[in-house]
Amino acid sequence: CGIVAYVGQREACPIILKGLKRLEYRGYDSAGVALLNDGELKVFKRKGKVSDLEEFIGNQDTTSHIGIGHTRWATHGEPNDANAHPHYSSSKKIAIIHNGIIENYASLKQHLINKGYEFHSDTDSEVFVNLIEDIRETTKVNLAEAVRLALHEVVGAYAIVVISHDSPTELIAARKGSPLVIGIGEGEYFLASDATPIIEYTKDVVYLNDFEIALIKDGVLDLRTKEDIVQTPYIQKLELELESIEKGGYPHFMLKEIFEQPRSIMDSMRGRLVAENTQLTMSSIREYENRFKNANRILIVACGTSWHAGLVAEYLIEELARIPVEVEYASEFRYRNPIINEGDIVIAISQSGETADTLAALELAKSKGALIFGVCNVVGSSIARATDAGAYTHAGPEIGVASTKAFTAQVTVLTLIAMMLAEKRGTMEKSALHQLMLEMEQIPAKVEKALQLDKEIQAIAEIFKDSSNFIYLGRGLNFPVALEGALKLKEISYIHAEGYPAAEMKHGPIALIDENMPVVVIATKDNSYEKVVSNIQEVRARKGRVIAIVTEGDTVIPEMAEFVIEVPEAHEALVPLLSVIPLQLLSYHIAVMRGCNVDQPRNLAKSVTVE
Ligand code: G6P
Repeated sequence: CGIVAYVGQREACPIILKGLKRLEYRGYDSAGVALLNDGELKVFKRKGKVSDLEEFIGNQDTTSHIGIGHTRWATHGEPNDANAHPHYSSSKKIAIIHNGIIENYASLKQHLINKGYEFHSDTDSEVFVNLIEDIRETTKVNLAEAVRLALHEVVGAYAIVVISHDSPTELIAARKGSPLVIGIGEGEYFLASDATPIIEYTKDVVYLNDFEIALIKDGVLDLRTKEDIVQTPYIQKLELELESIEKGGYPHFMLKEIFEQPRSIMDSMRGRLVAENTQLTMSSIREYENRFKNANRILIVACGTSWHAGLVAEYLIEELARIPVEVEYASEFRYRNPIINEGDIVIAISQSGETADTLAALELAKSKGALIFGVCNVVGSSIARATDAGAYTHAGPEIGVASTKAFTAQVTVLTLIAMMLAEKRGTMEKSALHQLMLEMEQIPAKVEKALQLDKEIQAIAEIFKDSSNFIYLGRGLNFPVALEGALKLKEISYIHAEGYPAAEMKHGPIALIDENMPVVVIATKDNSYEKVVSNIQEVRARKGRVIAIVTEGDTVIPEMAEFVIEVPEAHEALVPLLSVIPLQLLSYHIAVMRGCNVDQPRNLAKSVTVE
């Protein structure tokens, strides 16, 4: 979910609505605002997107200089008008926006119902606001104190902002586990889940820490802990630019981000790789050089696309640096009492740096003494701040919900890490390492070339857009790419797609193959090439329709595959950065042709801050 709040001299409603649009990538099941004017607290909320909310508000009076807004990704209760945020307290005196999950909501709710409170939604957030009201009524403390006391009763994750009808210049915000940024203007404040709604107004921001409460009253920010200890706000300068979060002429953010990859990959390498001098630098690794050099094992935790980047890293780190690697879904890892030793290194990969499962997994590993290294895209995000060290991917803001440039940036950074570890451990010949570095520098130009396949891929998309199923096959480093290709298609076109190791196909998925089944095979020139060629034959023998991703100049596969897409030749270790490009474009075009909402696919959210 995304939250936005404003207090100051300007009209609050337009600022909040615009901010919510920027945050829609975090969820778009429903949206709402609460505005306070002359002691009157009004809530407008609607199932659907922020544009539906705007339509609903229409010409109604929204005059106000203080307000809160929310765009939701449903957890408790289906997406409908009643479950949309903000939520009122029973008396309609207090309103709340909440991102997160209150785990003990059921017992709190029962307790409040027994006291006569009424509920109009299925959400845990409505429990939260009534709890605040109950504490305020029974103990007669002020609003800020009531919020603070309520935080001691709830178990779970939250970022909240609260306003009350009798506090016309007061916003109260708190966080635990879900992000919240405060933008500081001239006598005005902007609160949001990330900095994108804030940058056009101010570059001065304070990131709220877990267990902190911000009270903004009469133009003054007061920061304290849940235990009521006053904190000095640490004001940071935002480096984000407005253009980077706008579409820049592309019809969709996803397409813009796919086409940005030559530059974003370059940005991920900038200052870290100078092949000419055989130089690799990553200060965070240098700092823990011995731990890395002597690591018994590396564990990688991540979710979704980031988990696929982790699988690529597993192959590379094992192959180049000879350190055993295990890749885990963060959500599984955290609940199975994993064996972690002090000599282990845990790498947490996350675009947003906010994924709740990944954050919880690394906290668990940290408590067992492992060194935690983060590979995040969003600077200052919760995961980045919770790690011992890390490397930002520097892909720039990724707004399309289906991840593209963040994936290639993650793979780039992880490849550099594998190379650095190989160098430090002496597991690669110097000349071989040097050669790999030279090739790595060529990757942005090769990605640029792969992007020229766009028209060709569009034509293939036209042919397969009505298919109901797809299989994606790859071996070695291209197996995670097959998984990623299938995930992209599922996410944005709602076509069922499965990624499989090519050789494993014969143990099951082969039963699905007939003349209607498109099979995307990644068959670039590497040491499993011959084997993949055999796998293509197996598909052809069952009349499957093969779309092969091959290395430029391949003369064998065009003889057997119905469609062939040629990507530039590259060092085997770097092929995923190229072979994934046509798969991103294929899913993009199919989704557009099917009339799907590419940037905001149904049911998904870009940043999942609940478990
Ligand atoms: C969500 C997104 C995916 C993403 C995953 C992990 O499910 O829809 O695109 O890969 O979260 O996100 P992270 O920000 O941790 O990389």
